[in-house]
Amino acid sequence: MKIFLLGATGDTGYEVLKKLISENHKVKILVRTPSKLNTADIPNLQKDQIEVIQGSVMEAEKLIDLFKDCDAIVSALGTGKNNSYTEIYSKGGRNIIAAMRSNQIKRLITITSALIDMSDTSTDNFFLNRIIRPNFNKIYSDQTRWETILDDTTDINWTCVRPTYLVNKEFTGRYRIKNQHCPPKGRKIGRSDLADFIVKVLYSNEYIHQKPVLAY
Ligand SMILES: NC(=O)c1ccc[n+]([C@@H]2O[C@H](COP(=O)([O-])OP(=O)(O)OC[C@H]3O[C@@H](n4cnc5c(N)ncnc54)[C@H](OP(=O)(O)O)[C@@H]3O)[C@@H](O)[C@H]2O)c1
Repeated sequence: MKIFLLGATGDTGYEVLKKLISENHKVKILVRTPSKLNTADIPNLQKDQIEVIQGSVMEAEKLIDLFKDCDAIVSALGTGKNNSYTEIYSKGGRNIIAAMRSNQIKRLITITSALIDMSDTSTDNFFLNRIIRPNFNKIYSDQTRWETILDDTTDINWTCVRPTYLVNKEFTGRYRIKNQHCPPKGRKIGRSDLADFIVKVLYSNEYIHQKPVLAY
């Protein structure tokens, strides 16, 4: 399969990239700054599987052209440490869906956050409500807009993964998954385990039109 990956210069995207090429897939990646891509721990022989394209998810016409030879799309887009107003999820997401429709691509894996679901009583506590949610509210607002767009999108087989707090930690392969709400007392998930789940669901029919939450 040839996968189109967005966000490969971010920590989660890079884990997804490594996982995909270790499973012999070809991966086309869109990066704003190619020099930021550190491929030091990717074996030289596998580097041929990666095609790097410079650009942004906001370039709608370009995406239509770039998606042409791809079978599925993974978006690990995010804003890094920047918590200011963003439209990369909603506007970027609309561009992704339009380009998928133009190319008859059906499978999409995307990421938001466990904390955007206010109906989840397991994340309803003082610390999350008073400290974390206000701090990241501009990000969560756009992730919510993006999920609303997804809710109205039935012709694309999307899965929207909602991680809990992300940490950089060794791969374990042992994590819990619960649809929509956080697994009981779940607090965090490692990016390599998140990448493991993303790549697993990419080829399966599981979690289509669902929002699985991941936690240890
Ligand atoms: N941190 C947490 O605890 C946590 C918890 C739950 C969910 N999440 C979500 O998980 C996702 C992954 O987070 P992360 O911390 O691993 O990654 P991240 O550091 O936020 O990386 C984001 C990636 O998106 C790229 N990007 C941003 N704007 C773009 C644009 N306009 N066009 C193309 N690429 C663009 C960045 O490229 P550049 O390198 O060019 O900036 C980078 O590669 C994010 O959506 C985040 O909100 C995070």
